[in-house]
Amino acid sequence: MISRRGWLRASVASAAGLLVASDRLLADAPVLPVITVYKDPSCGCCTKWVKHLSANGFVTMVRDTPDMDEIKRTMQVPAALQSCHTAVVGAYVVEGHVPAGLIKKMLAEKAQIVGLAVPGMPNGAPGMETSGKADKYDVIAWERSGKTRVYASR
Ligand code: CU
Ligand code: CU
Repeated sequence: MISRRGWLRASVASAAGLLVASDRLLADAPVLPVITVYKDPSCGCCTKWVKHLSANGFVTMVRDTPDMDEIKRTMQVPAALQSCHTAVVGAYVVEGHVPAGLIKKMLAEKAQIVGLAVPGMPNGAPGMETSGKADKYDVIAWERSGKTRVYASR
């Protein structure tokens, strides 16, 4: 039977171990907010984009809906920027196949924008790799006023 002192020593050691583990987690990466993805249940490329987010450290919540037009209206995604899925992360809207790294950059910068969009569905964007082709595409940032700018080019 384990002595009282032995038990105490073991529990102190494991508590210290937990502290080390959580410190390491904090040091490795900033904590990312959960990203909620609204998508049509039959959208294959949307699911691939969700996998891309998970592979890059995001915790994802998927909300299937047959009425994506309503979601885009609610989120006020400008018509010219629309794509298949619409996501919400922190206070931001993410429209279409935006690379996870740029979402992290936007969060880290606390960018004064509504969100990021990859309009349409360019080949080679994350979740759109299936054709083997890679189009050049812009990731667009938009503001509450409707003003847009190129946030990154890929
Ligand atoms: Cu898509
Ligand atoms: Cu999609």
